[in-house]
Amino acid sequence: MARVTLDRVRKVYEDSGLVAVHDIDLDVADGELVVLVGPSGCGKSTTLRMIAGLESISSGRLAIGDRVVNDLPPKERDIAMVFQGYALYPHMTVYENMAFALTLRNRPRSEIAARVHRAADMLGLRDVLARRPRHLSGGQRQRVAIGRAIVREPQLFLFDEPLSNLDAQLRGEMRREIGALQRALRTTTIYVTHDQIEAMTLGDRIVVLDAGRVQQIDAPLVLYRSPRNVFVASFIGSPPMNLIPGHLGPAAQADGGPSFRSTDGAITLALPATFLRDRDPTGWRDRPVTLGIRPEHLSVTVAGTQAGEQGLVRAHVEGIEPLGYDAIVHLGVGSTRLVARTTALPKTAIGAMVDVRADIAGLHLFDAASGEAIGDPRSPTRVPSEHSHGDGRQGVYRTAR
Ligand SMILES: Nc1ncnc2c1ncn2[C@@H]1O[C@H](COP(=O)(O)OP(=O)(O)OP(=O)(O)O)[C@@H](O)[C@H]1O
Ligand SMILES: [Mg+2]
Repeated sequence: MARVTLDRVRKVYEDSGLVAVHDIDLDVADGELVVLVGPSGCGKSTTLRMIAGLESISSGRLAIGDRVVNDLPPKERDIAMVFQGYALYPHMTVYENMAFALTLRNRPRSEIAARVHRAADMLGLRDVLARRPRHLSGGQRQRVAIGRAIVREPQLFLFDEPLSNLDAQLRGEMRREIGALQRALRTTTIYVTHDQIEAMTLGDRIVVLDAGRVQQIDAPLVLYRSPRNVFVASFIGSPPMNLIPGHLGPAAQADGGPSFRSTDGAITLALPATFLRDRDPTGWRDRPVTLGIRPEHLSVTVAGTQAGEQGLVRAHVEGIEPLGYDAIVHLGVGSTRLVARTTALPKTAIGAMVDVRADIAGLHLFDAASGEAIGDPRSPTRVPSEHSHGDGRQGVYRTAR
């Protein structure tokens, strides 16, 4: 097992001149499972292939354990890689497929048998060892590909979208199995996916990449709660965070807190002074910002049922997608579209008017120009449970919880 260190690792594809990976810094601890996630073409596979030695490193330094391995051929790096296409040998049995790497290394037959049987037991493949791959289900084939990696007992596992060929249910099962296996074996693992559920559930930490650049590296829930920029905010979370362009205006409340007004004027929101205190000590007035609210931080009630309450925004229900436990509700407020996640509405509410409230503690604020979170995302501002309401005009969110 080993620690993996990328020190300003860059990849330029010579033929196109494309910088596929921009100076990545990443330190994967011994035994850690780190997930690389990001949209298609962001450089996930390129990064993994450089670590595997299948792609040359244009500049920077890559170390596995104590060795700098930039110029070391793949087979001397002591890693095992699992790809999306399982690439099993069709003419070999499951046993032979799993034993192949050890056979090449001339390991004693008894040792090979012991390692293959141990991996087969872990993966539930005992009963199919004599079969050929074409007589296996997709999930079983994927297990064989993983088994082939395990028997090598490498110091590093690399996975490149290993589950994307499987249907949703199998993917869920295999995801849990891979997680359990990795915890049992404690082999350092780097796992590439564009599936954010895999990223959130498997990763000790997640690296979010966009266009070859690291956007944020953090534990899954830190990433979810404190995205460092608009890209991470919109990429992690499903349905994605609502992002509303607008401006911070002058104080709207007795405590001196600023107001947020959406660009189309449909949404006005009074923020408590504490919301900005740790974020932006200087001049927030007239600053263009993007306000972020996750769907679960919007609460929706049938219009008028909160009689007498001030500061609710009236919205039109444009669609409801019932998921069972809750539903995804698409809302229109002026020209602004919002998505809420709620248990509160029947499907018949499509077309109705509703009242929408935002949970202030769940708000995010980003600089509109740079997309960066305003203030330190690691110290989410605590909002006292009691503070003054908005100014009561219609179209103003109530700001007390
Ligand atoms: N051999 C190559 N030669 C030139 N450009 C390449 C090569 N391989 C990848 N690229 C380019 O480098 C960028 C990153 O590709 P990469 O395969 O690392 O993306 P990815 O994040 O794995 O995407 P996906 O989710 O689609 O697998 C892309 O723009 C891609 O077109
Ligand atoms: Mg890829």
